[in-house]
Amino acid sequence: MRKRTGTHNTKEQRIGVKAEVVSAQMRTGSHWLWWFNRGLLVVGLIYLSTPFMMRPEIIKQIVYSHRVRVPFFIDHNQPAELSLNHTVNMYLTSEQGISLGLWHTVPESQWKEAQGKALDWYQWSLGDGSPIVIYLHGNTNTRAASHRVGVVKILSALGYHAFSFDYRGFGDSSGEPTEVGLTTDALYLYHWVKARSGNSPVILWGHSLGTGVTTNTAAKLMEQGIVVDGVILEGAFANARRVGNIHPFSWYYWNFPGFEYFNPLPEYKLAFPNDENLNKMRSPLLILHAEDDQLASIDVAQQLYEIAQRAQMSKNRVKMVRFNGFHGYLHNGLYKDPGLPDIIRDFVQSLAP
Ligand SMILES: *[C@@H]1O[C@H](CO)[C@@H](O)[C@H](O)[C@H]1NC(C)=O
Repeated sequence: MRKRTGTHNTKEQRIGVKAEVVSAQMRTGSHWLWWFNRGLLVVGLIYLSTPFMMRPEIIKQIVYSHRVRVPFFIDHNQPAELSLNHTVNMYLTSEQGISLGLWHTVPESQWKEAQGKALDWYQWSLGDGSPIVIYLHGNTNTRAASHRVGVVKILSALGYHAFSFDYRGFGDSSGEPTEVGLTTDALYLYHWVKARSGNSPVILWGHSLGTGVTTNTAAKLMEQGIVVDGVILEGAFANARRVGNIHPFSWYYWNFPGFEYFNPLPEYKLAFPNDENLNKMRSPLLILHAEDDQLASIDVAQQLYEIAQRAQMSKNRVKMVRFNGFHGYLHNGLYKDPGLPDIIRDFVQSLAP
């Protein structure tokens, strides 16, 4: 095709030049097509291979995102650096080989007294009659994340004890996260606190994925004949099995056609069935939800509210507070609301002594 160099035919030359221009255009065109086809192929391969890639380890990373930490180099042993100067860092063994990193923050009114105090003073203080809140955080990050510290500060300023801890596999806690494991950790802490709290109410506060741990724990306690004194659910989702809205990527996983076929190992099957648990629970309940929550829709929270009201046949024991979308709180920001402390105080005061 290129062997025109020897020719003297000007017409042929002209045709040759023309042909070269056309073929150059075709080459850039086919170049683009080549990339387009490769792109399609890659997208298709990712789509088709996703169920195969969704092995337990990857599901675990996606759902719990427990390795994602910002800031990464946080010393959980120095809560005072996060201006929690009336907080003790401690470790509990929830199960053989599972050590949980935990912060106990006493009521803010005791901050001076708390300076330099050891573990035994903190444990003794649990019996002082102040309400106690166990905070069960969501996925990713540790108890040092700012929205979690924010909740602890509110509780402490209200005069409550706050427990904020990292489930197995999170933060400085050992082990790997599973649904049963997280629930076991929360149950253990609940019993540990109850054994030291005298007649003080002990409240579970779950956020995001932690709402699943919270209702799992409360439902488990129901089986043990124990009704939790009060439960707060912030940014709750309905049921990981059906909605899968714990994490943006998990949506993809749970909606993948034929996903049942690729079921992971039983211990990695996720349920966190808030809806089913609320049907069983009989604890006074407060649902907090931002209307602009981008991860767990406000409609789902409304459904949970109605499920709980029906289950408890009571409008008084089950409350829901919606936060207007114009605040921009989204999924994590409710703690910034200036009205939140009063809402929490009203709820805690409404609990039976
Ligand atoms: C300790 O914390 C309390 C409550 O947050 C605060 O009022 C106080 O100023 C803090 N003290 C020091 C020395 O940081």
